[in-house]
Amino acid sequence: MASSSLICETRIWKDLRAHVEDIKETHLRELMSDTERCKSMMVEFDGILLDYSRQRANLDTLNKLYNLAEAAHLKEKIRRMFNGERINSTENRPVLHIALRAPRDSVINSDGKNVIPDVWQVLDKIRDFSERVRSGTWVGATGKVLKDVIAIGIGGSFLGPLFVHTALQTDPEAIEFAQGRQLRFLANVDPIDVARNIAGLNPETTLVVVVSKTFTTAETMLNARTLREWISAALGPQAVAKHMVAVSTNLTLVEKFGIDPNNAFAFWDWVGGRYSVCSAVGVLPLSLQYGFLVVEKFLKGASSIDQHFYSAPFEKNLPVLLGLLSVWNVSFLGYPARAILPYSQALEKFAPHIQQVSMESNGKGVSIDGVPLPYETGEIDFGEPGTNGQHSFYQLIHQGRVIPCDFIGVVKSQKPVYLKGEMVSNHDELMSNFFAQPDALAYGKTAEQLLNENVPQPLIPHKTFSGNRPSLSLLLPSLNAYSIGQLLAIYEHRIAVEGFVWGINSFDQWGVELGKSLATQVRKQLHASRKKGEPVEGFNFSTTTMLTRYLEESAD
Ligand code: F6P
Repeated sequence: MASSSLICETRIWKDLRAHVEDIKETHLRELMSDTERCKSMMVEFDGILLDYSRQRANLDTLNKLYNLAEAAHLKEKIRRMFNGERINSTENRPVLHIALRAPRDSVINSDGKNVIPDVWQVLDKIRDFSERVRSGTWVGATGKVLKDVIAIGIGGSFLGPLFVHTALQTDPEAIEFAQGRQLRFLANVDPIDVARNIAGLNPETTLVVVVSKTFTTAETMLNARTLREWISAALGPQAVAKHMVAVSTNLTLVEKFGIDPNNAFAFWDWVGGRYSVCSAVGVLPLSLQYGFLVVEKFLKGASSIDQHFYSAPFEKNLPVLLGLLSVWNVSFLGYPARAILPYSQALEKFAPHIQQVSMESNGKGVSIDGVPLPYETGEIDFGEPGTNGQHSFYQLIHQGRVIPCDFIGVVKSQKPVYLKGEMVSNHDELMSNFFAQPDALAYGKTAEQLLNENVPQPLIPHKTFSGNRPSLSLLLPSLNAYSIGQLLAIYEHRIAVEGFVWGINSFDQWGVELGKSLATQVRKQLHASRKKGEPVEGFNFSTTTMLTRYLEESAD
């Protein structure tokens, strides 16, 4: 395929389009009755079991998808990513988040330089700093131990660390190391978020970590200035040096802000914001909370999947299989959304994180060469932990639109509860739903079955479930630092696979810029109107009306 040609122009894409008709003829009930097919659709790696037998696909579909991967040069693209080539062409950057979790003795080159020593230099610095803070060697301005941490950041500088923190919060091993410590996240520029974050905290015992790749993001910088003021007002401006540190690629701006560059933790422009949780962005706050050794296990889990992704054959490769099946669902079966449904409350922030990784990566309208795409890319990702979601939006998934679902289950609960006299443990109760839902979606319930149950005729259409709704299931042995790292990397690479096949650049995000620049225009107007009484000018009728009303009604 020449670099400017589109994947939809290939013979295999057309072949897959035609194949949709074959698949349409077969209900999942029939597909599920073929045990050999189901057997071949279960893949295990490093303790994680993937069952994709409830996808609307047969072995022929899979073979065609492997051919599609070949036509899209998937192997070559993965190799180029791991080799540090500048595959993020619109920003002229390599994409090397895999280097953030690579073992100390590995070699990963970018522009002919091995990046691993730099990665480990920062990791060692984090280990040293977090141990000093945790042990009370590094104390606040009044000599008190810094037991509370507020991490300020937004988007990729927030969602990944929040997901991992939420998942570790109930992990027995991690809890041991978190005794007496708190980690909070301040993301939104809404002053309510600041108020919630500082509620009940004492600046004397609080360390603020400002996390921003660029150190220019409006929300983060305003929140950082607000907390700098909070510390200064309580402890004096000299206290900032002891109470504020930073994570950024832009150490010049960190210093300009007033944070000692010695107290800054670097990362590199080859780490995309939404792929940065394994850099100091996540590792610093999480190490402060749980200790570096716990976080190192998280990195090892992610690294195990990186190796697997790089070397496993496609038929056994978890991220590749997941990515190809997503392409099948979106581009061929025409399902635009994907529900991420972890049956684990500890994973409640997983869907919001993956939502950013996926939608910011793959929501594109042109190919990597800038050619407008005649097909949609990306999917609408959303999700909630089961069973909460079942009492919320599952109605639509069962009888309304078809939304492919990812069910994620965990064998051993982080917090088992066995109540005397109950039929099953609380975790078994949760998992009963994890096992039941995929079959409910796949098999549905026919009018005939309802008649046999003596359901009154008028209710039959309402109680019928068409079934034939695809899902896949991932079963993790337990939820701990290591498996959280595995899960993260599986999804990161799955999203890359989708983007590689669609022929887009999954590593830029130009679509977020327009709103930012229009907000700058509005900010200037608000300032001019409030300070100098200038009228609202230069906006359309709608915005002018709304802005004027806002200014009038919020005036002191
Ligand atoms: O909203 C876009 C974005 O650039 C994300 O990609 C990024 O993760 C986030 O803003 C925060 O950026 P920064 O880490 O530079 O503050």
